Amino acid sequence: MNNWTFFREAIKNFRSTGAIARASPALVQRLIGSIPASTPLRIVELGPGEGCITRALLDRLHPKSELAVFEINPAFVGRLRTIRDPRLVVNPVGADRLAEHFAPGSVDFIVSSLPLSMIEQPVKEEIIRQSQRILRPRGRFLQYQYALQDYGLLKDNFTDVSVSFTLKNLPPAFVYSCSLGML
Ligand SMILES: C[S@@+](CC[C@H](N)C(=O)[O-])C[C@H]1O[C@@H](n2cnc3c(N)ncnc32)[C@H](O)[C@@H]1O
Repeated sequence: MNNWTFFREAIKNFRSTGAIARASPALVQRLIGSIPASTPLRIVELGPGEGCITRALLDRLHPKSELAVFEINPAFVGRLRTIRDPRLVVNPVGADRLAEHFAPGSVDFIVSSLPLSMIEQPVKEEIIRQSQRILRPRGRFLQYQYALQDYGLLKDNFTDVSVSFTLKNLPPAFVYSCSLGML
């Protein structure tokens, strides 16, 4: 799927996609660059779209890692299912159903490109609540966003939230790295 196809899908479903172009390689690197590659990990990705971050994760992750993705757009789900990698599980359901798939404290990293600012407040709060629940004590929730609309929500729910920024995306983006502070 090229950027034009992503754009068409985004226009058809603008409220749920929340972007006109997929994340640039520079943004993807900033988002996932801190995830260790040398050790097996359990990773969850929220809102993978056509899979630009998914593929970068699979390139990076240890051969014994697991990657579960949650995507609600059927066109994107179809595209994700063409990725042949035994580490990948594609869940065609919303990110508010995480707790049905993972035990508390069992996930190392959650990588999210959900359009948080377009998701209704109660659903968004439920996604963050379930994310906290399934993360290991030393786990991290990584998210990008085009403005800092949800900084407050993340600060309220995670003990430690750091923010960085990249101009190398259309539009430029902030990247949050959030932890439960149980080191
Ligand atoms: C901004 S796009 C990100 C696409 C790609 N990961 C990227 O970074 O370029 C947001 C994605 O989140 C998906 N999405 C929106 N709400 C969702 C939800 N509640 N659960 C799972 N996926 C959702 C959309 O269908 C879309 O694929």
